[in-house]
Amino acid sequence: MFKHSQLESVKAALMHPDYAKYPLYLRIQRALRQLILDGVLQANNPLPASRALALSLNVSRDTVENAYSLLHAEGYIERQVGSGSFVAEVPQLQKPKRIIATQPTKQPTIQLSKRGQGMLNNEGVREALTPHPFAPGIPETRLFPLPLWLRLERQVIRDYQFKALQHSDPQGTKELRSAIAHYVNLERGAHATPERILILTSSQQAIALCALNLLDAGDRIFTENPMYQGARKAFETAGLIPVPIPVDQHGIRVDLLKQHSTPVKVVSLTPSHQYPTGATLSLERRLELIEWAEQNQAWIIEDDYDSEFHYVGKPTACVQGLDPYQRTIYIGTFTKSLFPSVRIGYMILPAQLVAPMTTARTLQDGHTATISQLTLACFIENGHFGAYIRQMRQVYAKRLITLEKLVRTHLKEFLEPLPPLGGMQMPCVLICGLNEKVIIEDAKEKGIALTGLSSLYITTPTQTGFLLGFAAYTEREMELAIQIIRKVFTDNSG
Ligand SMILES: Cc1ncc(COP(=O)(O)O)c(C=O)c1O
Repeated sequence: MFKHSQLESVKAALMHPDYAKYPLYLRIQRALRQLILDGVLQANNPLPASRALALSLNVSRDTVENAYSLLHAEGYIERQVGSGSFVAEVPQLQKPKRIIATQPTKQPTIQLSKRGQGMLNNEGVREALTPHPFAPGIPETRLFPLPLWLRLERQVIRDYQFKALQHSDPQGTKELRSAIAHYVNLERGAHATPERILILTSSQQAIALCALNLLDAGDRIFTENPMYQGARKAFETAGLIPVPIPVDQHGIRVDLLKQHSTPVKVVSLTPSHQYPTGATLSLERRLELIEWAEQNQAWIIEDDYDSEFHYVGKPTACVQGLDPYQRTIYIGTFTKSLFPSVRIGYMILPAQLVAPMTTARTLQDGHTATISQLTLACFIENGHFGAYIRQMRQVYAKRLITLEKLVRTHLKEFLEPLPPLGGMQMPCVLICGLNEKVIIEDAKEKGIALTGLSSLYITTPTQTGFLLGFAAYTEREMELAIQIIRKVFTDNSG
């Protein structure tokens, strides 16, 4: 017999929040299945007739019928015409386990691989879903010409029809590779051909692919010190050992890099606007680095993440364009020049690395979304990309000036701003002896996102201060945020 208490259990399960998202028949089915798995309903126990259960639960008979049919199909119950439904012999009956709990269950501990645990511990690279001042590396999205993008996307779908829905080349569409090659050759002095471009979802993916394909776990890699955390985490996840090379106002100290006696086969750097100092690598050092790479058969990873935004003088040609030996891997991204969710980045590769890198990416994500690639290709080819960059360069240049002024006016006793020649963030060093971490925590509580400079260093001693992003915030937003920071500083000055 189906007992009153069992009926109450089904009723209680119908109300359980875990089941709230399911349609009624599934909630009944789950509740009955759980009673069976828990051994509350034993093998050969009869279930109430669907009409009777429907009446008790105040649902339609069809709903109960659907639940019973599913239980039958899954082997939890037997149904015989004339004699009704019975609980089947289910192996789980021997070891009842409670899946649905009235109290929140404690997560069982799981054993991850060392690599998996390492990734979990380093917390990956998570960006704020809504940017708060002064999170760095985020572009302004509120000025993006959305109607134009939408029109181009529609045009792509009209032109390509169902072809746009199919898989596309893992290396990227020919259209986008051609548009990028033309653009970077013209604007960044690169030596790119569509055949040597690999379209990816981000520079982060490009950096991770380089880490996995160029070196083995335990190998060393030259990096800037301080450096971008995303690159450091990608290298460490691949088991690489960063060898930090100091940075000065002309970028990475190539002279110090060359003094290392044991050979290191890869150097990773941000030559246009060193992250986080903003220094531009001098031409002399670029040439010296290229010669070092050729002599040592080493690779240069050139992360050119925000070079489109250079405000003072002409931007220096990229290392890749100066390198006659094909030792440089150039990384570019549209997540900064356009908008973060576009998820399109790329590499310009030495010819012999095209096949290995393309094959490696097929194991990660197949290829980048085709419709977005084709839309972006139209956006670039029709001159909209160039126009948008010119517009945003002016916006960001003004915002940088504003931020520097705000810091110098309202935070002069606490911070010294070091305005870069380009990019989307400005480092400010602490000059008041206050604790960087305490300020970050206090500011966070008040909705302000501060990135500590010391966390970007691989070795001690470190510089303390903050990397203030300015691209994504209006002058008014920055002004309000600076007032809050001022209060944080004065409260902590005691
Ligand atoms: C120096 C540097 N490299 C790479 C990236 C990652 O860019 P993407 O969004 O293309 O992965 C960032 C993002 O802030 C960055 O600052």
